[in-house]
Amino acid sequence: MPFPRSRAVFARPCHSLGEHESRASIELPRQPVNPASALLSSRRLAPLRAPADLPPSSLALLPMIVGIDLGTTNSLLAVFRDGRPHLVPNALGDFSTPSAVAIDDAGKLIVGLAARERAATDPARSAQAFKRWMGSDRTIKLGDKAFRAEELSALVLQALKADAEAYLGAPVTEAVITVPAYFNEAQRRATRTAGELAGLKVERLLNEPTAAGLAYGLQDRPDNSTFLVFDLGGGTFDVSVLEYFDGVVEVRASAGDTRLGGEDFAHALGKLFIERCGALSLADRERLQKDPALWWRAAEQAKRDLSERDSTVMGLMLDGRRAELELSRADFEAATAELLQRLRRPIERALQDAQLSPSSLDEVVLVGGATRMPMIRQLITRLFQRLPLRTIDPDQAIAQGAAVQAGLKARDAALDEVVLTDVMPFSLGVITSQQIGQQRIGDRFSPIIERNTPVPVSRMERYCTVSDNQRQVELDIRQGESPIGSDNLHLGKLDIEVPPLPAGEAAIEVRFTYDANGLLEVDARDVQGGRTVTTLIRNTATEMSEAQIAEALKQLRALKRHPRDDEQNRYLIERAKRLYEDRLGDQRVAIQAWLGEFEQALDTQEPRVIRQARQRMREALDSIDGGFRF
Ligand SMILES: Nc1ncnc2c1ncn2[C@@H]1O[C@H](COP(=O)(O)OP(=O)(O)OP(=O)(O)O)[C@@H](O)[C@H]1O
Ligand SMILES: [Mg+2]
Repeated sequence: MPFPRSRAVFARPCHSLGEHESRASIELPRQPVNPASALLSSRRLAPLRAPADLPPSSLALLPMIVGIDLGTTNSLLAVFRDGRPHLVPNALGDFSTPSAVAIDDAGKLIVGLAARERAATDPARSAQAFKRWMGSDRTIKLGDKAFRAEELSALVLQALKADAEAYLGAPVTEAVITVPAYFNEAQRRATRTAGELAGLKVERLLNEPTAAGLAYGLQDRPDNSTFLVFDLGGGTFDVSVLEYFDGVVEVRASAGDTRLGGEDFAHALGKLFIERCGALSLADRERLQKDPALWWRAAEQAKRDLSERDSTVMGLMLDGRRAELELSRADFEAATAELLQRLRRPIERALQDAQLSPSSLDEVVLVGGATRMPMIRQLITRLFQRLPLRTIDPDQAIAQGAAVQAGLKARDAALDEVVLTDVMPFSLGVITSQQIGQQRIGDRFSPIIERNTPVPVSRMERYCTVSDNQRQVELDIRQGESPIGSDNLHLGKLDIEVPPLPAGEAAIEVRFTYDANGLLEVDARDVQGGRTVTTLIRNTATEMSEAQIAEALKQLRALKRHPRDDEQNRYLIERAKRLYEDRLGDQRVAIQAWLGEFEQALDTQEPRVIRQARQRMREALDSIDGGFRF
């Protein structure tokens, strides 16, 4: 039987494979490396109604469900009250709590801004950006203790919960938590487990773009409205196309880059500084290149300044000398042109997959702190020929949407009806070779399941041999969007024996079956011989067992903690230590003295004395680093 020649054929050298190896269980790499290379699971929501039609008094009687944006960089909590969402401040008075955890010298736990400060002076006992490891069994060490991402996330959730309870004066036991649209089932389950470990019943996991849509009142729009949500956070970029129809919000397509975010823009400024700052010696440059920790704060500050002003001075202390560089917005934009370019592809891809043109969208919504950069707004305005919606603070929209969902949830049991429409945002296929004229070209990617296909799905393709008397075919299973096979992520291998026949005559059928649990089953059948080999590729086999959860609960409970009202003091101490490491000479002497004075005040245990000392300490530190909090 002739096989379509345009379909690739195997050209890889075949080698023998023992029978026992033909069925293997292979784990997917924990972290997707390609843009959009994660699994997507979108939720259909049951009909929504405007949240504002309930008198506030009746809300008070309902169980308190909070909305939580559990971010890679920052986390926020909001409640739905008086017909609208309200952000809840933490113990420092900030709405954003850095998703950072550390263990201090006394072995006590620190979470949030103090932990982010501490990461500068004690990286071995600090953890950040652990959301990237949700759904994997990787552990992150803080000193001699190892934690899973669920546990670290639980510590952040616990801090948010405690802050909310203090602020609201009521126990908080239930939450709607947002997750990226591309989170797979394992990552979603890990998020639920984190909630459970933090003592929260997770009422619902809500896709982040859907949350942004709810914050903007998507549910009040006419049927068939379509939205594009552009979310540029600290370390990740997500684009989603949402559609609203007949009370259902659906994620139609999702794309993004799990390795692109606001941090890359700060990094570009750091590089520019090292290149251009005249006050730096060759040795300084080498040192700065090796150790970004020396300059990231200065770069972050400069980046934020440039969101407000046309130019700024980026400066940092190096061995007691101050090195400065004046930077204009134009410099910044030139240095990040390539990053800006990388933002375009996922947008195009999401639109294409949703079969929409930029002009047919009803709204474009900007979320994520990094969309504060004017160049991002300009890019979007240019691409879509309209002004994006950004009336809600871009780093608060997702938490607000989660609270809207919580508000709807608290009073409408019908919302329990959730229809799942899972889509997979990357392509899965095998490496093949292709005959073009007289030439055979190897390393071609042949997709079997294409991206944004609804799951569960099962697809089959037929392939044939390339050499006469070929005895074996090797399937190299990959995920990604590159036409070059080896550019895509390697997931696993499967070898199958075929009868020795002239080239092109031995055929195999390869079936990919992908289920909602993120399990890919690959079957290869030798058409002539009838033999079948199978391999299972699971995105993760890493869910925590009941016993592990119980053990984790014990470990988390056993952690020593500071009293909550100590939070501000902790933060000032960690910040002073970081500045001390940063600076030299007189400034060090001064910081040392302030720290001593402050600790003395804390020892008195006199609230009034401590309050005054705290105020002095804050002003003193602000005089050194400008009072930036990030
Ligand atoms: N004024 C500003 N100008 C430029 N960038 C800013 C500004 N404010 C915050 N950012 C950037 O926003 C990013 C953090 O955004 P956000 O809090 O939305 O991230 P996140 O949701 O925690 O992370 P992720 O979406 O990657 O999970 C950081 O890179 C920060 O530098
Ligand atoms: Mg985010």
